[in-house]
Amino acid sequence: MEEKWWQRSVVYQIYPRSFQDSDGDGIGDIPGITSRLEYIRDLGADAIWLSPIYKSPNDDNGYDISDYQDIMAEFGTMADFDAMLEKAHSLGLKIVMDLVVNHSSDEHKWFVESRSSKDNPYRDYYIWREGKNGGAPNNWGSCFGGSAWQYDEKTDMYYLHLFSKKQPDLNWANPVVRDEVFSMMDWWLQKGIDGFRMDVISLISKPDGFPDGELGPNGYASFHLCANGPHEHEYLKEMNRRVLSKYDLLTVGETAAVTLEEAKSYANLDGSELSMVFQFEHMDADFHPVLGRYAEQHKNLPKLKEILSRWQNGLEGIAWNSLYWDNHDQPRVVSRYGSEKPEYRELSAKMLATCLHMMQGTPYVFQGEELGMTNYPWTSIDQINDIESLGNYRAFHEKGLMTEAEGIEMMRHRSRDNARTPMQWDDGPQAGFTTGKPWLPVNPNHTLINAAEQVKRPDSVFHYYRKLIALRKELDVMVYGHYELLEPEHPALFVYTRTLGDESLLVVCNFSEDEQTYEIPVEYRGADILIANYPDAAPAGTLRPWEAVVYHRK
Ligand code: NOJ
Repeated sequence: MEEKWWQRSVVYQIYPRSFQDSDGDGIGDIPGITSRLEYIRDLGADAIWLSPIYKSPNDDNGYDISDYQDIMAEFGTMADFDAMLEKAHSLGLKIVMDLVVNHSSDEHKWFVESRSSKDNPYRDYYIWREGKNGGAPNNWGSCFGGSAWQYDEKTDMYYLHLFSKKQPDLNWANPVVRDEVFSMMDWWLQKGIDGFRMDVISLISKPDGFPDGELGPNGYASFHLCANGPHEHEYLKEMNRRVLSKYDLLTVGETAAVTLEEAKSYANLDGSELSMVFQFEHMDADFHPVLGRYAEQHKNLPKLKEILSRWQNGLEGIAWNSLYWDNHDQPRVVSRYGSEKPEYRELSAKMLATCLHMMQGTPYVFQGEELGMTNYPWTSIDQINDIESLGNYRAFHEKGLMTEAEGIEMMRHRSRDNARTPMQWDDGPQAGFTTGKPWLPVNPNHTLINAAEQVKRPDSVFHYYRKLIALRKELDVMVYGHYELLEPEHPALFVYTRTLGDESLLVVCNFSEDEQTYEIPVEYRGADILIANYPDAAPAGTLRPWEAVVYHRK
């Protein structure tokens, strides 16, 4: 198969609100991004995924769009966008936009019309149902807590919102909605953007008949029952035929509740739907048995290995993987699977990077991950902005399942705001993010963890990521090699090989701060070390805390 540009690429994700402020209002913006593009080029990334920059009332920080063809005033203007795109392209960076079309904002003109009367031409752009037994049409819950249905007095009916009530779900069963979405996508592609990251795209086809589902601990059925619905692949194939196939794009579906089998359709190498998907199974590997993601992590390395390995092997030759630890919805991986201890933070950040980047698929780096940024030490619920963690905390708190102290603890481990604190550019005031008051607090550890310091220091996490990214450009075995997991049951070591013809890699990662005994397989003894996170080679038969070594055999 002919190689696609995104198969050898690394994507850098920007959360614009927290990346770089240029005008002192405490909110990141597009001119801020433009001013930092060289930094991303120097890291070696090929493409940037921009979280939404469209016009939005910001109920969910831009994931609630009120005009798909306009820019959020806080972020700048369309002229700012065009200038950013032009500069990015001149630096060899591609721009992948977020596409949020499972839902719009309730302030989008389509919804304003839709809710105004039952016979408005926009009525069927959204999903309206009569109530049942004096309540919602069914027992589905919103991802952000509470029912997924909102009663609307004007027409005495309910509309569906799998996220906040300000994010009504679009009705993909209506062909006119699909026409609108496809022509809007085409409009952006004509501007020259290079792809889309498609927000919760696995939810666009709702189950026939809207049946009740099994109740979860919060008293509602999970919105996951809307995932991979009956017309999902039909809609995506139509999108592909009518829009995507006309361009050379990177498309990545954010596919909540996707299974390996489903991914073989979504991300099939035949190019009939998307380039790849974000799966969530490995993100769920540390969930609490009852509270799910809203509790302290329950680390289980064998489970994490089983999941990642199943995806590595399952998609080989059939579909393409995406690789990620961090994004704007996840706590920071160093705090999650690594160590915040000063002596181990950088080692563990490099180990985690090694483990992920040596796998098959397209790696994504979330802003600050390349510095080993950590979770924020939240001390009060009032500091939290994230609608998801607040909504779920309130739901659990009201049911007596979580005290306030447990809530703060949960925020420290899990809140999406851990990813959203401002980018740490330097050790000065507000980490160089803004000259004003930042919309979320800057992590006090920016005096230790910041880009200015790391760019100068050759053994920093930043330069380690740079090396990993550069290696992918050189080595076919990193891109295409067959993956095999070794030591599946080992509680602390993640060991695997990648093999392409006579060339192979042995990747050995210690996910603990304890020394581990490990004899590398004979065939790798004496092999070159491709990259490692300690300056000197490990003593034979031992791995030091958080050590990562990649052996290369040719
Ligand atoms: C997934 C996005 O990544 C998340 O940030 C957002 O809240 C939901 N989709 C709803 O759009």
